[in-house]
Amino acid sequence: MNIALLGFGTVGKAFYELTLGRSDLRVTSVLSRRPRPELPCTVTNDFDEIVRDRSVGIVVEVMGGLEPAYRYICAAMRAGKHVVTANKQLVCAHYDELLELAKECGVSLRCTAAAGGGIPWLTSLSRAARLDEITAVGGILNGTTNYMLSAMTASGVDYTTCLREAQALGYAEADPTADVEGYDARRKLVLSANLAFGASVREEEIPCFGISSVEEKDFAAWRELGRVCKLFVRAERHEGRVSAFVCPTLFPAASPVAQTNGTGNLVTLRGARFGELSFSGAGAGGYPTGSSVLSDCVDVIEGCPSFYVSRHEAKHIDNSAAAGRFYLRMGSEAVCTGPITVAEAFARAERARSCGEPVFLARIEEE
Ligand code: HSE
Repeated sequence: MNIALLGFGTVGKAFYELTLGRSDLRVTSVLSRRPRPELPCTVTNDFDEIVRDRSVGIVVEVMGGLEPAYRYICAAMRAGKHVVTANKQLVCAHYDELLELAKECGVSLRCTAAAGGGIPWLTSLSRAARLDEITAVGGILNGTTNYMLSAMTASGVDYTTCLREAQALGYAEADPTADVEGYDARRKLVLSANLAFGASVREEEIPCFGISSVEEKDFAAWRELGRVCKLFVRAERHEGRVSAFVCPTLFPAASPVAQTNGTGNLVTLRGARFGELSFSGAGAGGYPTGSSVLSDCVDVIEGCPSFYVSRHEAKHIDNSAAAGRFYLRMGSEAVCTGPITVAEAFARAERARSCGEPVFLARIEEE
């Protein structure tokens, strides 16, 4: 099957290389603003040319951002082309509409690379959801912050220096906001919760606390508690209610989550009958992410259904019953709370923040 590739950055290049020598699929055109004489295929900066090309069966979108990616993938589906994308921001923002459009057009829309990078997380999750009732999903789904928290835990380096190092290594973007404030992890949680629960949840309803206000004294306090901090996402379904939040979380130092270091991801689903299943691996990077894009293309060729789920019920986030103990630092004073609801913990942190106090919030995972 012929593929048109939109975007030739780290993931696009790796995907292109992974397709070389395959007989089942080949990249026949690349959308690029600048000429790429090194490529033997068609290189164009005119997307309409790709849409009109009847020989293109799959459009692979790895450009990122909302526009023009949104316009391109909608036009591709309307022209009867399958779409594979790594763009979590786009799929989260237009989830219901994109699913409907794919169904209406009779094409596949797949986005395995959008959460978990090289881990076949979304495909495994959707398969598990066809076999059992999924009651919870959770994990480390952001490589940049995991690299930073691991480095700060191991070497005591301060946040600003660590962020600069992560940028120099190409992990963190020039504008690191989406990673360090937890928005990237939250988008991956939206996709995970939607597939797990057959739901459609809204990104902005999920409370999210990032790592940008972490200080060296927090790490010292956690060391004394025998805990390690990870930026963790969690969603649970209980009696029809969906709770979800993104929050730094303190794990016992010997636990598998605490020992997931560097840019690694580790993510777990819980089935009502088959219990917990965990997946770990590279959450980012050209070849890992390119491999997930490739596996979606192979699934398309093999006729796998569109975007994994056919039902999705709109759900509001309800964190009123989700509870736990929290580490809350306001100014230089840190306390470990007794059991409180997630809603209450986020409200306390928000009140302190609105009074101008530096604040850090972390949930304490029970052993
Ligand atoms: N910025 C993301 C991360 C890239 O650090 O995990 C992969 O989605």
